[in-house]
Amino acid sequence: MTENAGTPAETADGTTDGISVDALRRRAFDALTTARERTALLTSCVDEPELTAQHSPLMSPLVWDLAHIGNQEEQWLLRTVGGREAVRPEIDSVYDAFEHPRALRPTLPLLAPREARAYASDIRGRVLDILDSSPLRGGPLLDAGFAFGMIAQHEQQHDETMLITHQLRRGPAALTAPEPPAAEPVDAADLPAEILIPAGQFTMGTSAEPWALDNERPAHHRLVPAFHLDTVPVTNGDYLRFIEDGGYTDERWWAPAGWDQIREHDIAAPLFWRREAGQWTRRRFGTVEPVPADEPVLHVSWYEADAYARWAGRRLPTEEEWEKAARHDPVSGRSRRYPWGDEDPTPERANLGQRHLRPAPAGSYPRGASPLGVRQLIGDVWEWTSSDFLPYPGFVAFPYREYSEVFFGGAHKVLRGGSFAVGDVASRGTFRNWDLPVRRQIFAGFRTARSAGDA
Ligand SMILES: [Fe+2]
Repeated sequence: MTENAGTPAETADGTTDGISVDALRRRAFDALTTARERTALLTSCVDEPELTAQHSPLMSPLVWDLAHIGNQEEQWLLRTVGGREAVRPEIDSVYDAFEHPRALRPTLPLLAPREARAYASDIRGRVLDILDSSPLRGGPLLDAGFAFGMIAQHEQQHDETMLITHQLRRGPAALTAPEPPAAEPVDAADLPAEILIPAGQFTMGTSAEPWALDNERPAHHRLVPAFHLDTVPVTNGDYLRFIEDGGYTDERWWAPAGWDQIREHDIAAPLFWRREAGQWTRRRFGTVEPVPADEPVLHVSWYEADAYARWAGRRLPTEEEWEKAARHDPVSGRSRRYPWGDEDPTPERANLGQRHLRPAPAGSYPRGASPLGVRQLIGDVWEWTSSDFLPYPGFVAFPYREYSEVFFGGAHKVLRGGSFAVGDVASRGTFRNWDLPVRRQIFAGFRTARSAGDA
């Protein structure tokens, strides 16, 4: 089932309209099923020793993710929403992400791969029974199937996390996928380098999107001064010019903590890049290949993105600038769910869901462009913004403080848009991701901006 669940436009009173319970139930079923298919693939394409190994201290063993997915589903959908008796309460603590840092998870008494698989599948069967008979209303967790959507998003986000583990893993390739569609060459060559987003108010965040998480809420107005935004993300070819111009050896471009990081860890290029015999290569899911010049740059920290932007005489966009470029329709004055409109993502509009295991060339997806013509805002690469992760005015923690609230503050930078690795249901115009500015293993790139009037 791939039916569109509807188009929940922002209404004046902030309610959701136009989505039937049956459509929401189908949407929940689809989102859960899509996530599980990917989880199954990511955990079946390597052997048991690889599933239990820790491929990087930055990541959990894949088998931890697998049982953690099942355990979160048991806690939220089976016990809390379904009111059913606990199946494996004794493992809750082992799979509590807050109790155990990733580096220590291999030392826990983890379920063996076969047991983890059977556990996740058993829970899923029971949860689909609950979904079948649920009225999808009767409190904030149940209304519009929020908890089902939250758990589907959780699993899709772990699918991205597991794909990062696959990228960090050494050894021959375990995953394959078709190449993304090529950019339409004539069209891409004709694109302007940047697009003016005129000054004015827009609606940021959402009160209508049924599965929006607490940090995306509520909808509120922001006045954004005029600015110019790159039409496409910064490419490897662009980034190479920064490297070749001595970008990594010139302290002027770097925030002090970023300068410290690149010197301490000897960083002189994006993660996974190497220079061999005069040519730049990169390792991508077990394959070494030349760095493609026309593809959005990946695996750069916030500090690297920030330094590049400064070198280019520009800056990273703020989060509100990014969202206005992605959602604001200057004709109707309203904010869309996605750059192209309110319809769910399709393969013609955005590179999402691990359909391809790389970003598409810059200038791809003309059908996914924003009203003013900005491309590839959704999918391909997460985009670093200059903004700290902070609550919107009127924020209310839901369903628990650890979802977002404990991460608010100056330590984390906001990323927007979603990468090729994240599922459709965990990517939208309002979706906010956050991470530490030193992070490089995530599927993050960026685009640059400048204030209107700045040369
Ligand atoms: Fe999790």
